[in-house]
Amino acid sequence: MGLLELSALTVQYGGVRAVDAVSLDVPEGAFVGLIGPNGAGKTTFIDAVTGLVPASGSVRFDDREIARLPAHRRARAGLARTFQSIELFDDLTVRENLLVAAERASWLSMLRAMVRPAPSPDAEERVERALDCLGITDLAEHTPDEISLGRRKLVTVARALAADPRMVLLDEPAAGLDSTESAELGRRLRQLTGDGRTVLLVDHDMGLVSSVCDHVYVLDFGRIIAEGTAATVLRDPRVVTAYLGSETGPSVERVP
Ligand SMILES: Nc1ncnc2c1ncn2[C@@H]1O[C@H](COP(=O)(O)OP(=O)(O)O)[C@@H](O)[C@H]1O
Ligand SMILES: [Mg+2]
Repeated sequence: MGLLELSALTVQYGGVRAVDAVSLDVPEGAFVGLIGPNGAGKTTFIDAVTGLVPASGSVRFDDREIARLPAHRRARAGLARTFQSIELFDDLTVRENLLVAAERASWLSMLRAMVRPAPSPDAEERVERALDCLGITDLAEHTPDEISLGRRKLVTVARALAADPRMVLLDEPAAGLDSTESAELGRRLRQLTGDGRTVLLVDHDMGLVSSVCDHVYVLDFGRIIAEGTAATVLRDPRVVTAYLGSETGPSVERVP
């Protein structure tokens, strides 16, 4: 039984079926990849799972149907995601950016804030663990404009972890990184499943995808057209055809 089980997940934007009847199971502790050409529906898929676009079909998480729950309730159930664009608060330090995400808006924390307007100790602890996990504790007091793009990307992943999610969905975390930064990101990401988390990674960097994902799904026009190990799907003629003429073909030359 999967931690995340999708059945016939579908998102319709006017005449475009951006996600078309996707069914898949992600076991707890798995590291899965989702690849596909630009416009294939990868971001919309993450939006549909996390509740940011209306979708039909079933989304089961931890054996519970969450498809009708609003985004914040899915987040509270343990689903976190990153966004393709960075979107950090520029006037807050890295640590403060993470604290915003770490504070759970529960009645308890609101009551606590009225009595004692300071971050809850467990939120502070989650933030320190997330900084440590991504190796960016040294950046905690900096603001986002003081650090490189590569490290800002690590901050966005750390921010998703600050809520202590059971599963995290990453939307192109390696975009804009050089190959050294991307390899470093890969090493950090691999630790997430070691800590018992479940990860779904969307990225065009096939070196990264091959090095961290146990299982890869390929999306094209909203449908899963292939699945298997990275090496298997990248050799699949349907996948090669899907990427033909696409500006963002998988960087296959970087597959180890
Ligand atoms: N808000 C939206 N309104 C209408 N169409 C959209 C919207 N967002 C995405 N699309 C369309 O849905 C399809 C999938 O887009 P997207 O999920 O962003 O793909 P990917 O992340 O794989 O590049 C594309 O055809 C895109 O133009
Ligand atoms: Mg996208």
